[in-house]
Amino acid sequence: MKISIINGPNLNLLGKRKPEVYGCETLIDIEKWINNQPIAKKHFISWFQSNHEGEIIEKIHSLIDAVDGLIINPGALTHYSYAVRDAIEAIDLPTVEVHLSDIYSREKFRKLSVLKDVCTTQIYGKGKEGYLNALEILVNTENAS
Ligand code: DQA
Repeated sequence: MKISIINGPNLNLLGKRKPEVYGCETLIDIEKWINNQPIAKKHFISWFQSNHEGEIIEKIHSLIDAVDGLIINPGALTHYSYAVRDAIEAIDLPTVEVHLSDIYSREKFRKLSVLKDVCTTQIYGKGKEGYLNALEILVNTENAS
């Protein structure tokens, strides 16, 4: 399978940004950890991060006919970006929404995801393991179909 993993605004600051919430590892550390997992070695995984909503939308569009599944941690765009929501809906790919932190036990505004209804599954509060769970879900869904 070909799988794209997209990370949104401020996730490039992992390692420095609120380590008590997001941990001490950088996004590169997480990428390396996932890419070294046995399941990841059987698939083609590409990573993308941007702080710009439009770039994320362009990236999502580019996945049409190019990959089999999408894993996205949209950062704060989760909570208000109907444009990212519509892009995910438009490409019609199995998509798993991932959050490192437990968005339901933090500030009130984080409890709303405007993307949730166009994603297959939402994973939160599991740190980097959430990306691995998302990968497993996409692979199992593909195998079952
Ligand atoms: C996040 C949670 C969002 O509320 C926040 O804006 C982020 C990261 C997470 O991974 O827990 O940037 O998506």
